[in-house]
Amino acid sequence: MNEFARALQEGLGRQPRAISPKWFYDEAGSVLFERICELPEYYPTRVEFALLQRHAGEIADLIGPGLDLVEFGAGATRKVKILLSALDSPARFVPVDISGEHLLGAVERLRDDYAGLIVEPLVADFTADMVLPAAIGPRAGFFPGSSIGNFEPAMARTLLQRFDRLLDGGWLLIGVDLVKDPQRLHAAYNDAAGVTAAFNLNLWVRANREADADFVINDWMHSAFYNPPLHRIEMHLVSRLRQRVSIGHEVIEFAEGDSVHTENSYKYTVEGFQELARQAGWQPRAVWTDAQRCFSMHLLRGGPAR
Ligand code: AVI
Repeated sequence: MNEFARALQEGLGRQPRAISPKWFYDEAGSVLFERICELPEYYPTRVEFALLQRHAGEIADLIGPGLDLVEFGAGATRKVKILLSALDSPARFVPVDISGEHLLGAVERLRDDYAGLIVEPLVADFTADMVLPAAIGPRAGFFPGSSIGNFEPAMARTLLQRFDRLLDGGWLLIGVDLVKDPQRLHAAYNDAAGVTAAFNLNLWVRANREADADFVINDWMHSAFYNPPLHRIEMHLVSRLRQRVSIGHEVIEFAEGDSVHTENSYKYTVEGFQELARQAGWQPRAVWTDAQRCFSMHLLRGGPAR
């Protein structure tokens, strides 16, 4: 049995039923996510992109020349290109991603665009133990897209601690989505074109293909809502009727309205995120937000206070 099938059986066999959002990103899921990033309702990508464009020069001045830049979860190269173009003679770019195919295709063209830059893609799971190639300059990490929001706060702290160790007293530039009007958040995860619904339901399409399951996709609905006390968007797949689903040799029963929790997307205040970063050993050095305070870009310094 493959790892996904095992995770699915385990996640559906406990209460409350849940599965990690990392399983969204098969090839179809990655394409659907790219479409989400283009949606009018999904502001994070656009706002973060504009923040990077506006402040790349300032960021480059703060973090200095000759950097060894590591991107965690590299896929699309649009954002990192703004950074690479603004940085003073970056020495190397190390994009890290769990999906080799996705990574290698995306970064191949960078070599041509940035003559003199060493590009060293690394296929690895940065949420587990991983090792970076020996440093060839001061290290800086890049973790855009508010991907940190998809981790439970305690796990986000652990991940930030891991980044601190890996980056060896260097810098971290990280995008973080902010708490805001719940209606705006709700719209971003319930787009009119139904792309987020398709992204969520694709989990069952993947399960049918890769985990020997027999989900009837139309018997499920996408549900996404903001949970104000927990500062998070929750995504669920909800059964439209009483049904049985097989996954390999196991049969799971669902009542009408039963749900499987597929994702959390935590939203932070600027101060709340800075506190989390401090707890993980980072010192907040700068933060940029848009005029409506929709999204934030934090520059953190690792290692002991200096
Ligand atoms: C990747 N991640 C930051 C996205 C988010 O907003 O939490 C994933 C996503 N889920 C639904 N829409 C986008």
